[in-house]
Order: sequence, then C-alpha cells, then structure tokens
Amino acid sequence: MASEITYAEVKFKDTLLPVEAKAPPEKSTPQREPCKPKLWVPWLVSALLLLLCVALIITLIGMLHKQSPKAYKLPATFPEWRCALGTPGSKEGVWTCCPMGWKPFRANCYYLSSDSMSWDESEKNCTGMGSHLVVINTQAEQDFLLSWTKDIFSSRRSYFIGLSAQEVEAQWRWVDQTPYNETTKFWIPGEPSSPKKEKCTSFQVHSGTQARQNWNDVPCSISLNRICEAAAAFI
Ligand SMILES: *[C@@H]1O[C@H](CO)[C@@H](O)[C@H](O)[C@H]1NC(C)=O
Ligand SMILES: *[C@@H]1O[C@H](CO)[C@@H](O)[C@H](O)[C@H]1NC(C)=O
Repeated sequence: MASEITYAEVKFKDTLLPVEAKAPPEKSTPQREPCKPKLWVPWLVSALLLLLCVALIITLIGMLHKQSPKAYKLPATFPEWRCALGTPGSKEGVWTCCPMGWKPFRANCYYLSSDSMSWDESEKNCTGMGSHLVVINTQAEQDFLLSWTKDIFSSRRSYFIGLSAQEVEAQWRWVDQTPYNETTKFWIPGEPSSPKKEKCTSFQVHSGTQARQNWNDVPCSISLNRICEAAAAFI
C-alpha cells in the first residue's frame, strides 16, 4: 500500500514537472528584464553609503588630528604637558598648556612643592625645571595663589617666593628683574621686620580664613616649601 502511494506521488511529480519546466522559459524572460535594475539599486545605494562612510571617517580623523593638542610641538623642557580649553583669562579656542602636575592661571603655570629646602636651593630647583620662584605681579595672582594653596594642603605651610633683599641696600628684588612695585605687595602688617637678617620672602598659608596680606621676611637659610612659576604654552 505504502509503496504504491509513493510511486503514485513520484509519478504525479514526474508528469507535472515537464509541464512546469516548459511553461516558464517564455514567461520568465520578460520578467527578468525589469528585475535587473531592481537588483542593481540596493547594491548601488550600499556602495554609495559605504563611500560616504569612508569619506566621513577620513574627514573626522582629519578634524581630530587638527584639534588634538598632541599634533602640536610643545617645548621639550617638560616631557609631558596638559592642555585645557577655557582656562580663566585665556582667549577663546586657544589651548593653555602646562607641564603635567602644574596649575594654569592666566598665561602661567604654577608648581607647589611638597618638600622643603633653602631659598637658594629652591630657586635652583625651579630654574632646573625651566621656571623660577613665583613672581607675584598682580592682586589677582596673589588671590589665585591664596585659594589654591589653601585648597591643596590642610595644614599650615610656608612657601618661598621669588622676592629677596639685596645685599647692600636692603632693596627688595624679584628673581626675574620685575621692578618691586610699592602698590603690588602683600606683606603681613608690620613686615618686613628685619630685612638685614631676613632677606628672603615666604608666602604663609593657614588652614582657616586667610588674609590677603601673607608675606613675611625670613632668613634665606631656613627650609621651606616653594612655588615655582613657568610661562604656559599656547596652541
Ligand atoms: C626639584 O624638586 C623635585 C621635588 O623634590 C624633584 O623631583 C626634581 O628632580 C627637582 N629638580 C631639580 C632640577 O632639582
Ligand atoms: C604697579 O602696580 C600697579 C597696580 O597693579 C600698576 O598700575 C602700576 O603700573 C605698577 N607700576 C609699575 C612701575 O610697574
């Protein structure tokens, strides 16, 4: 019974197949021709999209390369630099770059030491790093240093700054030859008290409220922390 049924099916197919095979060739030829452009369209669209993507990626890479600060040469005085946009006082669209670990403010970078040494050694250490002991030119710079030093260490600390008295005249002098300005000085009231013995200047930081007047004259031989200042790089 079962073999008869299968045979019947095969036979049925056999008889059907030639009928189907004969019929399509004439019908399918007119059908394939309008199909050809329909098959091309998705390929063409895909190829165009791929081209567009490649072009987009290339322009993006180009733009990133242009904007990246790494594409510019920074002074070799420091191995690593950190650049930022929108630093207070900087021009729009200009990157302000400071050596890694230094703090930018306006056109300069600042370094706070956690170790201490004499004033001479402090200045030598700063110059060895392509900088100098900080020269405070404006009230804004004084205020920036006050708030920054207060934030960094909670304990009371003193830092050497680049102001020292000359041997003979007891005349105050900045390390970079900036003229000592009578209107831009921030001595603690009553200081400097003994410029003959205390010829160097410290920047005193308290943990609590901090008066703007915080400079004190101190002997140059004592060990203090230091603040170095270097010019920022702009790209
Ligand atoms: C300056 O002092 C820092 C911290 O102690 C040290 O790492 C650096 O090597 C010193 N640089 C020079 C030039 O003395
Ligand atoms: C001293 O500082 C004041 C205020 O910052 C400034 O107006 C003046 O030009 C400075 N004088 C000198 C000689 O640099």
